[in-house]
Amino acid sequence: MAHHTSTETSTETNTDTSTGTSTDVTIIGLGLMGRALADAALTAGHRVTVWNRTAAKAEGLVSRGARLATSVESAVLASPVSIVCVSDYESLQQAFAPVSGELDGRVLVNLTSGDPEQARELARWADQAGARSLGGAIMAVPATIGTADAVILLSGSRTAFEIYRPLLAALGDATFLGHDHGLSALYDVAGLSMMWGVLNAWLQGVALLRTAGVDASAFAPFAARIAHDTVGWLPGYADQIDRGSFTPDDATLATHAGGIAHLVRVSEKLGVDSELPRLFGSVVARAIAAGQGELSYAALIEQLTPGSSAS
Ligand SMILES: NC(=O)c1ccc[n+]([C@@H]2O[C@H](COP(=O)([O-])OP(=O)(O)OC[C@H]3O[C@@H](n4cnc5c(N)ncnc54)[C@H](OP(=O)(O)O)[C@@H]3O)[C@@H](O)[C@H]2O)c1
Repeated sequence: MAHHTSTETSTETNTDTSTGTSTDVTIIGLGLMGRALADAALTAGHRVTVWNRTAAKAEGLVSRGARLATSVESAVLASPVSIVCVSDYESLQQAFAPVSGELDGRVLVNLTSGDPEQARELARWADQAGARSLGGAIMAVPATIGTADAVILLSGSRTAFEIYRPLLAALGDATFLGHDHGLSALYDVAGLSMMWGVLNAWLQGVALLRTAGVDASAFAPFAARIAHDTVGWLPGYADQIDRGSFTPDDATLATHAGGIAHLVRVSEKLGVDSELPRLFGSVVARAIAAGQGELSYAALIEQLTPGSSAS
């Protein structure tokens, strides 16, 4: 068997040239997301083979020109590239149990959600089966698949990404992150962290303002402006973190601690849950106890990743 992932070369066999023209592609898993992916590939003019545990879900796609494979092995053999999108890694393992030699010389793109180590393990398995592979994460809903609104993160074999870039671009805004197959899954959770951070902070503000009869809708434009301005600080803070140097250009952690205590007090006085601001405060308090009170807010990264060091 060929082993591709450790030594990427510019030569590739068993694939078409993908010059923007039609590609043979197999889609495995025809749930809500898999059907949307297959639909977008058909719309873009690719020759699509599909396989699903429950074959009936392929009907609509077959009527649009997709070819239904009778086994997962024949599905993999039908195309130089297979895209898999099933519920989770356990489902993926069950679906791919009969597959091994069929992948030799082919490309496997996994768009099943999972954690980084699962993605790396799958990449090792694909490598042993002689396949190049890409780990992926879809940060979009099925309705946006096939449009630029569908963010699709990919990592692993750059060669595979370059060869199938037109196909992947037909599915959404496909971005290659790097050679670590686990990166797409890591970006996925990092993105989720941003999402809940913003939403929970907004809800805290809504809860405070509702005590004075202010509607959530009235707060939304102001909240959006604050969020936008805060996001503007990220490049500067990111630079501090990457340099490991936390000189405060705006406010020190000690100043932030005072502000957070104020937010906790007002929340409690108004009968609004204060767990979230107290949580922010406890991380800041740890940093201050570690002697970082005169550093910038970005120094808190060390409370989240113990072992790094501030200057
Ligand atoms: N839907 C979204 O909005 C969305 C957004 C981002 C990411 N994703 C990710 O995309 C993946 C698929 O999501 P979905 O919305 O398409 O889920 P879904 O509608 O529930 O479909 C699940 C798919 O997995 C297959 N499957 C489950 N267990 C299996 C097994 N043991 N063997 C073979 N096939 C099995 C199902 O086959 P059957 O039809 O035979 O049951 C079906 O094709 C998930 O990892 C999800 O996290 C989804």
